[in-house]
Amino acid sequence: MFKVGIITSSDKGYKKEREDKSGKVIHEIVTKNGYKVIKQIVLPDEEDKLLEEMIYMADKLKVDLILTTGGTGFSTRDVTPEATRRAVDRLAPGISEAIRNYSLKITKRAMLSRAISGIRNKTLIINLPGSEKAVVESLEYIIDSLYHGLEVMTGKTSECARK
Ligand code: MTE
Repeated sequence: MFKVGIITSSDKGYKKEREDKSGKVIHEIVTKNGYKVIKQIVLPDEEDKLLEEMIYMADKLKVDLILTTGGTGFSTRDVTPEATRRAVDRLAPGISEAIRNYSLKITKRAMLSRAISGIRNKTLIINLPGSEKAVVESLEYIIDSLYHGLEVMTGKTSECARK
C-alpha cells in the first residue's frame, strides 16, 4: 500500500477562514484508490514552509507520494511550484502536462496553473490546483497511471507493460 502526504497551500485555510475542501477530497480519492494517508497538513502560502514540509514527508516519513493543492496560480502568494522545484531532484513533466491537457478540455483557465511534478529520491511530488472541482478533475484523471509510476519508482516492478 503506497503512503501519501497531503499539503494544502492556503493562507485562508491556514487561518481557518476557509474550509480545506480540496485537501479533504484528495484524502477521499486516494483512500478510495487503496492509498494510505500518513500526514495531512494546511500551510500558509510560504515557499520555505512548504519546502520544509515536503522534505519532512519525503525524507522522514518516507511517503511514496506527496499531493499538494493550491498556490499554483499567478498571485504573488502562489509559490507551491517554486517550493516543489527546490524539493525535487528530477522533474516528471508528463504528469502536469497530462493534467493541463485534460483540464483544458474542461476550462481554458487550466492554462493558468503553473503546477509541476517531480521526484525527490523515492517520493513523487505532484502539484494540483486549488479548487475542489479542479482537484477532482485532475486527480481522477491521473490516478490509474500514477500507480504504475509509483511501482517503478519504488522498485516494485521494472516492467512497463502497457495495458
Ligand atoms: N484545472 C481544472 N481541471 N479545473 C479548473 O477549474 N482552474 C484553473 C487552473 N486549473 C481549473 C484548473 C484556474 S482558474 C487557476 S487560477 C489555476 O488552476 C491555478 O489554481 P490555484 O492558484 O488555486 O492553484
